[in-house]
Amino acid sequence: PAPLRIGIAGLGTVGAGLVKLLRGNAGIVGARAGRPVVVTSVAARDRTRDRGIDLDGVTWHDDALALAHDPDVDVVVELIGGAEGIARRLVTEALRAGRPVVTANKALIAVHGAELAALAEQAGVPLMFEAAVAGGIPAIKTVREGLAADRLNRVGGILNGTCNYIMTAMRESGRAFADVLAEAQALGYAEADPSTDVDGIDAAHKLAILAGLAFGRPVAFSSVHVEGIRGIAALDLAFAQALGYRIKLLGLARRREDGIEARVHPCLVPEKMPIAQVDGVFNAVLVEGAFVGRLMLEGRGAGEGPTATAVAADLIDIARGNAVPVWGRSTDGLTQVEALPRTAF
Ligand code: NDP
Ligand code: HSE
Repeated sequence: PAPLRIGIAGLGTVGAGLVKLLRGNAGIVGARAGRPVVVTSVAARDRTRDRGIDLDGVTWHDDALALAHDPDVDVVVELIGGAEGIARRLVTEALRAGRPVVTANKALIAVHGAELAALAEQAGVPLMFEAAVAGGIPAIKTVREGLAADRLNRVGGILNGTCNYIMTAMRESGRAFADVLAEAQALGYAEADPSTDVDGIDAAHKLAILAGLAFGRPVAFSSVHVEGIRGIAALDLAFAQALGYRIKLLGLARRREDGIEARVHPCLVPEKMPIAQVDGVFNAVLVEGAFVGRLMLEGRGAGEGPTATAVAADLIDIARGNAVPVWGRSTDGLTQVEALPRTAF
């Protein structure tokens, strides 16, 4: 069978990780995709940078937008980041050109997901973003497909690896916030602008996406209440521990009679709860549904390997023709999600 030809925009932590995974696991990926999945074209800013990957025989574009029209590309993979600018232009142009798109960009999907989903639908091509929520945890697939039969009432969890990594290290070893943040950046966990992580914005992006999938309609990112972890001191973490609690940055969305409430803020969690034990770069995704009850998925929420796995899973779905519509589930009585205004909690 003809290979699925991939064009990757962005060769940083996730993009380089994807090339390594598609090559290192080529046999597994090809068998599960039903055909080889090969990288034919790439784009990034600096052609001379050593990325630990061999790009011989791969077409390099200085302009990422060229991937939208490259005749050797079947699927455009956007791994640059940011809700606006080049990432948004590339995804829009690729969909308009009738190309399937895979992205890990939660900011883009949280802010412009509805408009991009409409473009994808008009063009009749998939727009996939498994990697956008909780790194290596198959959160999107679980909520959209695994739980498709149930009425979901709550969704959320620990959705930012950088914040959880920072607060875990501060609690366990008393290290300073700035030192641990620098380490999270060096490990490839943090966003290009790490204030997106520590101010809770990244978790809010992911929560808006998950809530949209769980409740059947896009949830406006602007309606999510957001607080980050800058106000949490080592002493707060120590006092919480002495009292039998952990402090976790949680994102929580729930269905109310008057609409959807979505909020991100640090929470005191009793240490006996399983989510209190989710430490370091690990994330937890919690879902509660009428029939399924409660469930929790735990796994690495950031980093090269876990995130590349999620991107590759979308590529395998596209190769097999298994991609599903963006919002995936029809809603049960909610004809429109009225996101509640931001409130302080
Ligand atoms: P990086 O900062 O490591 O990589 C970004 C890449 O984009 C770099 O290769 C950079 O090029 C390239 N780039 C930047 N601007 C342009 C441009 N104008 N034209 C072409 N290429 C450009 O980011 P990550 O890999 O960490 O993240 C990528 C995406 O994945 C983001 O949306 C992020 O939110 C998301 N994500 C990241 C996770 C993680 O753990 N890191 C986890 C889940 C999602 P150059 O290398 O030449 O500078
Ligand atoms: N910066 C994000 C985090 C990457 O730390 O969770 C994964 O989405």
